[in-house]
Amino acid sequence: MAWGTEGKTADATTSFLQSIFENVTDAIFIIDHKGYVSGANPAASKMTGWSLEELTGKVHFCEICRGMATCTAEATCVDCFGKQLNLPAFEMKIRTKDGREYPVVASSTRLGDREGNALIVILRDMSEQQRMERERFQRMMTNYVIQAQEEERKRVSRDLHDGVGQALYSILVGLKVVNQLDLAEPVKEHLLEVQLATARALEEVRNMAVELRPAALDDLGLVPAIRSYVKRYEQTFGINTRLSVVGPRRRYASSVETALYRICQEAMTNAAKYADADRIDIRLEDTGDRIELEVADDGCGFDPNEIRVQGTGLGLYGMRERAHLLGGSLQIRSAPGEGTAIHVVIPLTEEGEPLHVDPGSYRG
Ligand SMILES: Nc1ncnc2c1ncn2[C@@H]1O[C@H](COP(=O)(O)OP(=O)(O)OP(=O)(O)O)[C@@H](O)[C@H]1O
Ligand SMILES: [Mg+2]
Repeated sequence: MAWGTEGKTADATTSFLQSIFENVTDAIFIIDHKGYVSGANPAASKMTGWSLEELTGKVHFCEICRGMATCTAEATCVDCFGKQLNLPAFEMKIRTKDGREYPVVASSTRLGDREGNALIVILRDMSEQQRMERERFQRMMTNYVIQAQEEERKRVSRDLHDGVGQALYSILVGLKVVNQLDLAEPVKEHLLEVQLATARALEEVRNMAVELRPAALDDLGLVPAIRSYVKRYEQTFGINTRLSVVGPRRRYASSVETALYRICQEAMTNAAKYADADRIDIRLEDTGDRIELEVADDGCGFDPNEIRVQGTGLGLYGMRERAHLLGGSLQIRSAPGEGTAIHVVIPLTEEGEPLHVDPGSYRG
C-alpha cells in the first residue's frame, strides 16, 4: 500500500483518514439512499455556506446541485448522476445557501452501506480557474487586436507612401517640367497653383503615412522614431518637449519598440488634449535588464482613481495592456493641479527581447 497507513493500528488509520477528510480543500459529501447529506467535511460547509449541523440529515443534495454543466435542466434530473454507478469527473454548478451559483468539477462514487448504498460526491471549486481562463482569453484577444491593428497600420502606411505618395510625386515632377515650357503667362500661373496644391497633397499623404506608422520605427529603431515624433509634436502643439535617453543605444524586439512608441505617443496626445501643459519631459532609460519610459507633463493632472473620460477612454487601458502583454508594468502618477507622469517598465533579456511574455501572447 502506498497511502501512508502501513504499520498503523486501526485507530491510528482511522484518525489519519479523518484528518485527511477534515483538511482537504475539496468538498466531500456523503449522500444517503434518499438523497440527503448524511455527512460532509469542513470544505463542503465552506463551499456551500451551510454549517455542518445544517447540512447533515437536513439538506437534500438537490438543493445544492444545479445540474451538470453540459445538461439541460430536465435532462439533469432525469439522468441524475446520483443514480449512476461510478462516474468520471464532470463539470457541474452548485448553489450556495445564500443563492450564489458557481462552477465545480465533481466526481462521484457509490459505496455499499447498511441501508442500501451511499453516494460519495467530491466537488472542486473551479470559479478561480474559470476566472483566470477568461482573463487569459481576454488578454489573448486584446493581443490579437493590437497586432492586427499594427499590421494594418503598417500596410496602409506603406501603401500611402509607395502608392498615392509616389503618384503625386510623379505628377509634381511632370507639372514642373511642363511649367518650364514656353507657355502663356496665365497658363503658367494656373500651372503653378496646381503644382502647389499637389505639393500640399503630397505633404499630407506623407504625414498621414508617418502618423499611421513611422518607417523610422522599423528602419532605425525606438529612439530615432520618438525623436522625430517629438519634433513633429512640438511643431503641431507648440509644447516644449525634452527627450533624455540614458544607457546604451540598441535595437529591441519589434514588439517592445512598437509598444513603447505607442505608449509614448498616447501619453503625449493625452497631454496635448487634456493637460494644458507648458512642458513635457520624456525619459527613456536602458538599464541592461529592463527598459523604462516616463512621460511627464506639468499640466492640470487628474485623479487616476476617478477618471472622467473625455474621449473614448481606451488610451490608458491600451497602454497598460501593451505593457502587461510584454511582462511589464505601467504606473500612472497624477493628481489635480500636479501634472501627470506615465511610467512603464519592461524587463528585457540581453538580446532586447521581453523577459516574460504573457502566455496568451500571439507572436505569429
Ligand atoms: N495627461 C493628462 N492630463 C490630464 N488628464 C488626463 C491626462 N491623461 C489622461 N487624462 C484623463 O484621463 C481620461 C482617460 O484617458 P484615456 O487616454 O484613457 O482616454 P481618452 O483620451 O479620453 O480617449 P482615447 O485615448 O481612447 O481617445 C481622459 O479623458 C482625461 O480626462
Ligand atoms: Mg487618450
